Amino acid sequence: MVRERITSTAEETIRLGREIAAELKAPVLVLLYGELGSGKTTLAKGIVSGLGAAEEEEVTSPTFTLVHVYGKGAKVYHADLYRIESAADFESLGMEDIFAKPGVVILEWPERVPVPGEWPKVRIRLEHLGGDQRRIRVMGGDDE
Ligand SMILES: Nc1ncnc2c1ncn2[C@@H]1O[C@H](COP(=O)(O)OP(=O)(O)OP(=O)(O)O)[C@@H](O)[C@H]1O
Ligand SMILES: [Mg+2]
Repeated sequence: MVRERITSTAEETIRLGREIAAELKAPVLVLLYGELGSGKTTLAKGIVSGLGAAEEEEVTSPTFTLVHVYGKGAKVYHADLYRIESAADFESLGMEDIFAKPGVVILEWPERVPVPGEWPKVRIRLEHLGGDQRRIRVMGGDDE
């Protein structure tokens, strides 16, 4: 798995998302940490398209809809929890069935809710480095 990359354009971040997608094994929760505009949705475009669940242009920010579902067979969920009200809402997102048919759940702002402990996870941290540069770090499992 890629550990760390500095990207200088949105396109490079999308490409990194595709590389990460190639190494994901469903069911898995992909947690995207990073401030506003750090590139979480941009990276998700690469992950979702890399998984073959949708075209990169079809992947847009789920800020107002909370969760987008891509793919026909195994599902890819993409949620933005920035505006989520409470932990109870997380249950209502209906993503538990990724275990029934192993899927991938991509979460922006995962720190807004207590994330179920037992799910396999990949944590990704995105940071502004000034201008268009972003540092993107991938951490597997529960290690920091
Ligand atoms: N190296 C880069 N990687 C990612 N995005 C970049 C990069 N350089 C510039 N950008 C631009 O920065 C913006 C990142 O926005 P994006 O919606 O992906 O952020 P976000 O982390 O999802 O924000 P939010 O928390 O508001 O959902 C886009 O407009 C993108 O084109
Ligand atoms: Mg976003």
